[in-house]
Amino acid sequence: MKGGVGKTTVTMHLAGTFARLEFNKRRKKILAIDYDPQFNLSQAFLPPRIYFGLEKRNKTIMSVLVDSDKNLDPFKIQVPGNESPPSVAELKFNIYNYKDACLDIIPSTLDLMYLALGQPEKKTKPMEERFNKFIAECKSEYDLVFIDCHPAGSLFTKTALQNSNHVIIPVAPERYAIRGIGLMMQFIKAKTIGANIPKPHILFNLADRRGISTIERTIRDDPKFKDYCMGQTLKKYKAFSDPIDGKGFVWSSAKPYSTEAFLNVLKVAREFYDRINE
Ligand SMILES: Nc1ncnc2c1ncn2[C@@H]1O[C@H](COP(=O)(O)OP(=O)(O)O)[C@@H](O)[C@H]1O
Ligand SMILES: [Mg+2]
Repeated sequence: MKGGVGKTTVTMHLAGTFARLEFNKRRKKILAIDYDPQFNLSQAFLPPRIYFGLEKRNKTIMSVLVDSDKNLDPFKIQVPGNESPPSVAELKFNIYNYKDACLDIIPSTLDLMYLALGQPEKKTKPMEERFNKFIAECKSEYDLVFIDCHPAGSLFTKTALQNSNHVIIPVAPERYAIRGIGLMMQFIKAKTIGANIPKPHILFNLADRRGISTIERTIRDDPKFKDYCMGQTLKKYKAFSDPIDGKGFVWSSAKPYSTEAFLNVLKVAREFYDRINE
């Protein structure tokens, strides 16, 4: 629900870690979907030349929701002509390969903003239907599918939650964090979202490397949230904010604190793996 708490940072680092390392003696096929019109995840993984090439050819998450030949008019409601999304193979872009393991990404586009405008439910149904079908295909092709959400309760958040088994809620140590988590938990369980209730995992992000913040302590002690809190936290490391244009990831750079940061994200990934395989 919130911006700047680390949704994109967590997505890119967990997705990369799962593709590169063995979990349960096996590397994984990972897909990372950028579902935010601000397309930060796409910018982290793709150099501009490649990104704009893909965008021009409509190889973005936008094509899952509406036909790519649509005339985008911000004052016109977008409705797809049919309920058949493109296939994953048509949209994915490969970032990393090792034997059977891979990291593929589906970029986003600023144009997605046009779809985010308030729309009556009847009109959005075909988009939801297309997204559902698309994710069903993703689930059959990959071991793990990460969806990087945008910060609002919208059609995107709704469809992402409807199709997820788990939802990671990164929490930055700021004053209104508790209210934010409360709202998020309500939103996840709201009937309007649908019958599927993903399992929440609260991940404290930007945590101090030494201590624990008062806000983290308060949330951990709250009976409403305590069972959902991950034990591991993602610490504040400059190395986590470096990735751009497909470069600067902790697993491929030799900058100060990269190794420490990498070990940190590895611990988070291991715990997440255990939690989703419980
Ligand atoms: N653990 C971290 N250590 C250092 N910087 C971080 C960390 N998590 C997030 N950031 C930085 O904070 C800013 C917001 O994070 P981002 O992942 O883009 O948030 P969101 O996707 O929720 O809007 C970015 O500049 C990012 O690089
Ligand atoms: Mg983001």
